[in-house]
Amino acid sequence: MKVISDFLVVGSGIAGLCYALTVAERGQVCLLTKREIATTATRLAQGGIAAVATTDDSFEQHIQDTMEAGAWLPDEKIVRIVVENGPAAIEDLISRGVNFSRKEDESYDLTREGGHSQRRIYHAKDETGKEIERALVEAVRAHPNITIYENHVAVDLITKAKVTRRRIKPDSCLGVYALNQETGLVGTFGAPITVLATGGAGKVYLYTCNPDIATGDGIAMAYRAGATIANMEFMQFHPTTLYHPHAKSFLVSEAVRGEGAILRRSDGTAFMENYHPLKDLAPRDIVARAIDYEMKMHGDDCVFLDITHMGADYIKDRFPYIHETCLSYGIDMTQEPIPVVPAAHYLCGGIKVDSWGETDIKNLFAIGEVACTGLHGANRLASNSLLEGVVFAKRAAQRSLDLFAQKATSSPLDIEPWDTGSAKDSDEEVVVAHNWDEIRLCMWNYVGIVRTDKRLIRALRRVRMVQEEITDYYWDFLITSDLIELRNIVTVAELIIRCALKRKESRGLHYNLDYPEKDDIHWKQDTLIRKAF
Ligand code: SIN
Repeated sequence: MKVISDFLVVGSGIAGLCYALTVAERGQVCLLTKREIATTATRLAQGGIAAVATTDDSFEQHIQDTMEAGAWLPDEKIVRIVVENGPAAIEDLISRGVNFSRKEDESYDLTREGGHSQRRIYHAKDETGKEIERALVEAVRAHPNITIYENHVAVDLITKAKVTRRRIKPDSCLGVYALNQETGLVGTFGAPITVLATGGAGKVYLYTCNPDIATGDGIAMAYRAGATIANMEFMQFHPTTLYHPHAKSFLVSEAVRGEGAILRRSDGTAFMENYHPLKDLAPRDIVARAIDYEMKMHGDDCVFLDITHMGADYIKDRFPYIHETCLSYGIDMTQEPIPVVPAAHYLCGGIKVDSWGETDIKNLFAIGEVACTGLHGANRLASNSLLEGVVFAKRAAQRSLDLFAQKATSSPLDIEPWDTGSAKDSDEEVVVAHNWDEIRLCMWNYVGIVRTDKRLIRALRRVRMVQEEITDYYWDFLITSDLIELRNIVTVAELIIRCALKRKESRGLHYNLDYPEKDDIHWKQDTLIRKAF
């Protein structure tokens, strides 16, 4: 199958959907998504979307909070662009039908999260992402110029260099190959402009609150095609996910602490005042590290998040989803503290892009969690990511439309179909299952919240062994979605470790016991990696 459109979007979270809706006004859009359209990390976002909204607040304060949370690594020019476009992004979502929670007087009910000096987070109770995804999916489904291909997993980018078998610098993107999971066939999707909005890579770690789709597909594909990848060492661990054997690291929103919850040891002692003046509302990297330290020091399996003092009525009204979910695991958060542990949550690094979301491969854009725009630096400020998704979707759309109007793109018409060669059905699925587990455990144990060079080198050795095994397997057998994802998480694991080994300091989310201090002289810069051809 070959599908040619004007704009090809891979991914259906907030960034992909906002982009698709914008460019669809001027051309045909093909939207690929690997499961059902709303199965995204956006949908699971609880906390909200940050934007300056009151006269007590200011762009300067939001910028300062973002720079501070990001350990002064964010690119201030990008931070300013995103923050100053915040109010317009909120307006945009509201105009597309998103209903944010309001107070009795009808003004928006703004909440707070770690690292924010003001209440500036729009939310829809504790299911903000679900509400945003609902409204955007409805709009996309209703748009006559958008064709949705669900259950299509992108396999690899198609570039001019690949098609012509020549070295081309800079290379240009012509589209992607994607596996239709229902038929098992790989189709060719060509377009003058391709946008990766494939989200993050939490599944590279054993414990994550990300959905199963978060396997770093866009980053791995872009790396294989020759794009620059940046700051992969900065994986954000969310401090509070539910500690329960069957809860799959269910997220307990930072907004719970924003509304007064306190972290306690098993004996009831509050401990965050020992780590930061903002106590329980310190930036996330500090809270996650504090919890990790407390658990290791006291030999505990978890710590406890206590909001019982806010009263049952308030808790049930403000956090209905978290309350119900905890109850389903036998924990009544109105009466007892919630057992919590940190888990992989958000990747601050990704495909390096400019201020319009363009990568260094021509006609290839990256937006949302898959991209490294410079906004987050060494640690993302809570609720800045949905905002970044909207702002960069609009900027990438604007730039794409300019390129499209100037016809400054390559024709995707001459692409060869996918060649399966002599690959046959696998008779050893166990290799895939085993390697998935091995990578995720290895990353959790050796490349987690606290690192050392020795552990990183050990992890790299193991990851490279698995990589070799998967490469052999990949060319021998017909591809499946599990195999594509495994190949991608191994690539992402390798990129995280290599970036972590490059950074000889501790900054934000990257904490290495061999270099426990920040080194502003040598390391106030991005960590960049590019494939050698
Ligand atoms: C949360 O609700 O704690 C997640 C919000 C975010 O990661 O920005």
